Amino acid sequence: MTEEGGVETTVVVIREYDPKTDRESVEQVESSCEVGPNGELSLYTDLLGDPICRVRNSPLYLMLVAEIVNNNNTNHETKQIVGMIRGCIKTVTCGTKFSRNKSADPPKPLPVYTKLAYILGLRVSPFHRRMGIGLKLVNRIEQWFGDNGAEYSYIATDDANEPSVSLFTGKCGYTKFRNPSVLVHPVFAHRLNVSNRVTIIKLTPSDSESIYRNRFSTTEFFPRDIDSVLNNQLNLGTFLAVPRGYIWDGSGKFLSDPPENWAIMSVWNCKDVFKLEVKGASKLRKGLAKTSRILDRVFPFLRLPSLPKIFSPFGFHMLYGFGGSGPMYTKYAKDLFGFAHNLAKEYKCGVVATEVSSEDPLKLAIPHWKVLSFTDLWCMKRLGEDYSDGSVGDWRKSQPGLSIFVDPREI
Ligand SMILES: CC(C)(COP(=O)(O)OP(=O)(O)OC[C@H]1O[C@@H](n2cnc3c(N)ncnc32)[C@H](O)[C@@H]1OP(=O)(O)O)[C@@H](O)C(=O)NCCC(=O)NCCS
Repeated sequence: MTEEGGVETTVVVIREYDPKTDRESVEQVESSCEVGPNGELSLYTDLLGDPICRVRNSPLYLMLVAEIVNNNNTNHETKQIVGMIRGCIKTVTCGTKFSRNKSADPPKPLPVYTKLAYILGLRVSPFHRRMGIGLKLVNRIEQWFGDNGAEYSYIATDDANEPSVSLFTGKCGYTKFRNPSVLVHPVFAHRLNVSNRVTIIKLTPSDSESIYRNRFSTTEFFPRDIDSVLNNQLNLGTFLAVPRGYIWDGSGKFLSDPPENWAIMSVWNCKDVFKLEVKGASKLRKGLAKTSRILDRVFPFLRLPSLPKIFSPFGFHMLYGFGGSGPMYTKYAKDLFGFAHNLAKEYKCGVVATEVSSEDPLKLAIPHWKVLSFTDLWCMKRLGEDYSDGSVGDWRKSQPGLSIFVDPREI
């Protein structure tokens, strides 16, 4: 955007975010931006004073701001931050190949990795939209992705978020790729029951890593640096549900001789990273939510489904790395969910959430409220056409698997 005529110039500068000078302005833009479609109710994020928080746990990340610089004829310069974007890069599984061995054993599936970039937290102030600023931010961050060797870039958005979908698919060359479901459940004032058919064991990060690498490394989007996820202080633990009476003797023994049924899940504490708030609810709706909460707190034995305080900033836990085996696997996963709900209650969270592939049987097994849950749209772009197709070919054209591994660092 340039208005030139010797009198006044206005340019949009895209530059790296500077925490010393930009924090307040960025927070102002963030708090003025709804996330997703602007319906009766809108979701807003509060980044708790750290605008980089949503990417800082990734191995490589960058945050850019868009600043309008105005120079008038008296050589007086004014600057205003009006938009921002975050991006991160990591290595993930994009497919599977089979080991070639000369023994009689069947070939083992092995992960095929790619360097993947992720765009998140793109925001443009409502007063500066449709001026090409969002597009400039995307173009510049993609340049950084390419400079750092990323082969693909993806974004997650709401299918109903027309500005975002048309920006990425219409102007930036992204294609619709996957439609995972975000399953959200309120944290009740009462505890959920966990069946006594299972024992739930908290694993050490190294046992968790062995199980995840051994059983899930061929799952799409599995991060090669899973160890840094599991050792991060936001990871509250990895939990294994096994039949009651099973004796745990380390991951080596477990992997060589697992019980018939088992399930695994990890819990990530998003509450210490950012908060969410639902705005736009009527007084009646807020009143009903408050009443349900009071009743649930006073009469927990009635097990009333109650709505927590989601109309003021609330935190949540993300449940990730759900998986397992056996005919009772989804039931065990549901037990893990109940356990995680009760943990989130201790942490005073508003909701617990998990994200699963559209094909995943867990979609039916994990309790959630339809009114709070939604379908995510992941769009993917191949950043360069000169990469070799390797053994998986073009990832964008591959069929979805039964599961995806959702990295909690990117929520
Ligand atoms: C999505 C968002 C970042 C777009 O920013 P922007 O600066 O207005 O986008 P641009 O001006 O660069 O638009 C580029 C193209 O995107 C598409 N687009 C942008 N806004 C649109 C809208 N409201 N309706 C339809 N298409 C739209 C158009 O194709 C547009 O090109 P055009 O203006 O030549 O038609 C902005 O609307 C926003 O901050 N929304 C709230 C936060 C959000 O939803 N972020 C995305 C999460 S992934």
